[in-house]
Amino acid sequence: MTPPPAATATKGGARPQVAVKSIDVEGIERVYVWDIVVRSTHWFTMIAIFILAITGVYIGTPYLIPAQPGGEHFVMATMKVVHFYTAIAFTLLVATRLVWMFVGSYYARWHQFIPIGTRRRNDVIRMIKFYSLLSKDPPLNVGHNPLAGLTYLLVYALYVLMILTGLAMYSVSASGYMEFWEFLVPIFGGLQTARWIHHIAMWFILGFFAHHIWSAMLVSRLEGMGLIDSMFSGYKFLPRRWRKRLSLSWRDRDRPYEDD
Ligand code: HEM
Ligand code: HEM
Repeated sequence: MTPPPAATATKGGARPQVAVKSIDVEGIERVYVWDIVVRSTHWFTMIAIFILAITGVYIGTPYLIPAQPGGEHFVMATMKVVHFYTAIAFTLLVATRLVWMFVGSYYARWHQFIPIGTRRRNDVIRMIKFYSLLSKDPPLNVGHNPLAGLTYLLVYALYVLMILTGLAMYSVSASGYMEFWEFLVPIFGGLQTARWIHHIAMWFILGFFAHHIWSAMLVSRLEGMGLIDSMFSGYKFLPRRWRKRLSLSWRDRDRPYEDD
């Protein structure tokens, strides 16, 4: 059904049943932003975190008490084995992503996480204003918005902390080459503190997750550039007039643009 002209509605006539929004499809182009390594490490790490959190919480507080005598059931042993194998996958995923920050495609690189250029530094402030309701429009970016980039840097630091505290705890009951990691135990102030840090850091990661979902949905909707879809497909839908900035070096891309 063709909606009535907008003028009819504003004069108090029948309200249009379809909201007419002018979308300049001509002025939009599909740009490949997230390469396969960024996307696959993101989603596989997420799955690993859920498995590690479920098994880890059980290791810390074994809430299932099977009726059989110990030795006839293997609930704790199973949880630990799943935790440790998933921890290997998690460690490899994080290591891959960290290396990729130096050898990966443009938007996978370290400068997406540390706001070095003037434009990205200004955008951190603009983004904070947006989240504190002092401004209605979030700044638009091709890659990560600089505040999100900084937050992801903290998330990667938490990942590394999980790996190191995990290795410290593992080393004391390990035999063979994994005993090497025992030197981490005094660095964390003992085994019990390492365990405490490992536990608390998990809640920080899960807290980040709750905020991350909310902000990804909010920003995705406001920007209208397909942010959430882009973590699946790799593509964002960007203004065509941005094309010339996409070929600049990272230093030039981080200067304020005339067309902003
Ligand atoms: C985001 C990732 C991870 C989460 C959410 C997680 C969560 C947990 C939790 C909640 C505990 C129980 C702590 C407690 O006693 O209260 C635990 C124990 C443990 N985790 Fe993790 N963990 C993660 C990654 C890792 C990694 C990467 C390693 C190894 C490198 C690891 C090795 C261990 C070890 C050795 C224990 C102690 C098991 C025991 O008591 O025998 N974890 N984990
Ligand atoms: C445990 C769960 C999750 C964690 C820890 C997590 C963590 C991260 C990290 C570290 C990045 C940066 C990616 C990189 O360049 O390496 C990222 C980006 C992103 N994630 Fe997640 N993520 C989680 C779940 C999700 C879910 C469920 C969604 C979908 C709603 C999502 C949507 C996105 C999007 C759209 C980006 C790109 C955002 C931007 O440019 O700032 N994430 N996430």
